[in-house]
Amino acid sequence: MKEYAKLIIGGKELKLPVITGTEGEKGIDIRSLRQETGYITYDPGFGNTGSCKSKITFMDGEKGILRHRGIPIEQLAEKSSFVETSFLLMNGHLPTQKELTRTSIMLNDQSMVHEDMQFFFQNFPRLSHPMGILSAMVNALRSFYPELIETERDFEKVFIRLLSKIRTMAAMSYKISKGHKVIYPRTDYTYCANFLNMMFDSPVNPYQLDRDIVKALNTFWILHADHEQNCSTSAVKTVGSSRANVYASISAGIAALWGPLHGGANQAVIEMLTAIHKKGGSIEDVVEKAKNRRSSFRLMGFGHRVYKTYDPRAKIMKKVCDKILPKLKIDDPLLDIAKQLEEVALSDQFFINKNLYPNVDFYSGILLRAMGIPTKMFPVMFAIGRLPGWLAQWKENMDDRAQKITRPRQIYMGENETTYIPIAKRESDSADESDY
Ligand code: SDX
Repeated sequence: MKEYAKLIIGGKELKLPVITGTEGEKGIDIRSLRQETGYITYDPGFGNTGSCKSKITFMDGEKGILRHRGIPIEQLAEKSSFVETSFLLMNGHLPTQKELTRTSIMLNDQSMVHEDMQFFFQNFPRLSHPMGILSAMVNALRSFYPELIETERDFEKVFIRLLSKIRTMAAMSYKISKGHKVIYPRTDYTYCANFLNMMFDSPVNPYQLDRDIVKALNTFWILHADHEQNCSTSAVKTVGSSRANVYASISAGIAALWGPLHGGANQAVIEMLTAIHKKGGSIEDVVEKAKNRRSSFRLMGFGHRVYKTYDPRAKIMKKVCDKILPKLKIDDPLLDIAKQLEEVALSDQFFINKNLYPNVDFYSGILLRAMGIPTKMFPVMFAIGRLPGWLAQWKENMDDRAQKITRPRQIYMGENETTYIPIAKRESDSADESDY
């Protein structure tokens, strides 16, 4: 039976349809609100506002549930690969062996980037942040491949091209930033192994692939693959809603992800843990500082807009750290500090009352350090993992006939109507201001 929400405004009763999702979550359809009442809603950060209907990812923030196309993240992390999970997000089903082989061959075919791109990478200032480089170079992809305009209709080509090249571009920018020889992709390596080899192989010190690290990287990228309507995915969809091309949309997503409140948190967590380790400060003091509302300091890697319990991805990430660091004979003091920080915070009433738990970024940096990834590249690693989710969500948005160009409204709080005052009649400048 159809469900409605009743709204009484200005003496008028409005019946607003209620939409029920497949997992029972409810949304009030307010598309007729302004036209019927002249009112709009007010929801900074859109914490209570649904932007779309989607079939890709389901999250239950209270129960700590995350599923991609219905499959729990725990099963994907344990049994799948990043390429297979990317296929699942994009196509809505797990690939057959034939489909997976075809995808891997296409990824290999697309793994090189235009040789001229190296000149771009070489001309970025040496200390440029890799996220700024990546955002610029993804946007530049379309200039290097003018034929992309046609292939945008064949979205599989776009998906494969971007998923394959983003990995090569990330490794290339790293090598060039170090002044090292660029290592080319290999067709005999899998997606993750190829990336690690492009990052760490060198003519004088051949990189030895470690199965555990390759598996850990697959898990890392699976855990980052999609997360419904987060900040960067919303940025990708907003840019796409103006019918800007997919490369510009992904470039915007990389820019949004860069922020320390979002994907940049994995870098901020390691910087925070390193500072604690160096200063030898007490964990309790750090937690107290994070509770102080007058301070802008926050416990990075803690809290989430949707999860009001432990982020299921953080649980898996912590297990991978506990497994792989001993295997690699790595004793990282930051892992112990992170665990102490977690223990103190989770027993503190402030964090309990505000439902602040570790999120995906809290342990991910520890794992990346164990792989040898430099800290400044941590958000880039997040971006590579999130790319399939961005692309799947972008395409779903393009195909959704209910979607329009993103254009929220506002509540104006500025001046009422006033008139222009000629400069001669404005208040005279005070003496010091006129000394230009
Ligand atoms: C990601 O949306 C996604 O799905 C994102 C993501 C994905 O996969 O795409 O999961 C990836 O971005 C994870 C989050 C990474 N960011 C961080 O770890 C940065 C630290 N965390 C926060 O800044 C914060 O928790 C956010 C940004 C993650 C969520 O912010 P919200 O939902 O806007 O919550 P809020 O800022 O309104 O906080 C509610 C209260 C506030 O106190 P009061 O104003 O009510 O007194 O909790 C406090 C906040 O001050 N708070 C924290 C805190 N996080 C929130 N206090 C101390 N430390 C923190 N980490």
